[in-house]
Amino acid sequence: MKRKMIGDVLLKLCLLIGVLSAPVYGVEWKATVAKQMDALVSSCVVVPCFFSHPKENLPTARLRGKWHRTKEKDQLIYFEDNTRVLESFRGRTRLLGELGKGNCSLEITDIKSHDNGPFCFRIELARTETDTETEDKYSFEDDCVTMHMLPKPKDPSLTHKDPVEGRPFTVTCSVTHTCPTSRPQLTWSRGSADDITESHREIHQGLWEVSSVLTFVPAEKDDHKEVTCTAKFNGEMTSRSKMTLYVKRVENYNHIIIPVAVAVGLSAIFGGLCFLMVKKYKRRIEDLQRQDGTFFNRLSRMSRR
Ligand SMILES: *[C@@H]1O[C@H](CO)[C@@H](O)[C@H](O)[C@H]1NC(C)=O
Repeated sequence: MKRKMIGDVLLKLCLLIGVLSAPVYGVEWKATVAKQMDALVSSCVVVPCFFSHPKENLPTARLRGKWHRTKEKDQLIYFEDNTRVLESFRGRTRLLGELGKGNCSLEITDIKSHDNGPFCFRIELARTETDTETEDKYSFEDDCVTMHMLPKPKDPSLTHKDPVEGRPFTVTCSVTHTCPTSRPQLTWSRGSADDITESHREIHQGLWEVSSVLTFVPAEKDDHKEVTCTAKFNGEMTSRSKMTLYVKRVENYNHIIIPVAVAVGLSAIFGGLCFLMVKKYKRRIEDLQRQDGTFFNRLSRMSRR
């Protein structure tokens, strides 16, 4: 009875260990490759690719990387031996990543409209550094990249607030791309190098964004003027976007304030003078009335007649 129970527990334990360790031995090679990427015809594409082999630290010198068309391992689009690469890709592909660091990133230049893929990575571990015999190999056929061909580049996007006369104004021009080894050049229709700051960042697996910020102080004469941002892509294709400056005037009441102030000032002076005059003559009139009432008496008598 007791022995059976112990046996049971041991069996379950063994099963548990087996289940837990299965992933380690079952999945030896793992890769992360961008699934789909935009590719601008005539430009370049850098496909991010990473792979790992949990068993050991692999020596770079024994690693051979290949990129091939899906399911057709002999249709190579990249291999260190150029003569085995498909003629239509020869000289246009380059492995940028260091295989020893698990980086299998691929660059394809001078993109043609038929480069849509899918393309898959394959790793081979040679028996020795000079050996062509392979000890282990793996094709990552579930992690292939497909190219979405762009015959024309995307237009850059412009973002800005409302320009106000006399205040610093910034306008940002950004464009996404997939060719980080030769990124698009952004230029402005106005401003010097001091007025422009540029940045470059990876938004998502292989998708990059280059941004340029132009800062200037709009004047009255800039109203209704246009500002253009031009993106020149690797391969010479260009695209551009423009905006019109509707310069908000800073509210200026001088044309009202000055005449009003002058009028108020003048009337104050005039009023003051009148007041003084009235005061002065009032006293004299009263004096006259007191000294000699006959003047008014005579006047009233004359009017009665
Ligand atoms: C992989 O290689 C690419 C191309 O050289 C490089 O841009 C990227 O930073 C590398 N990634 C890592 C994680 O090393």
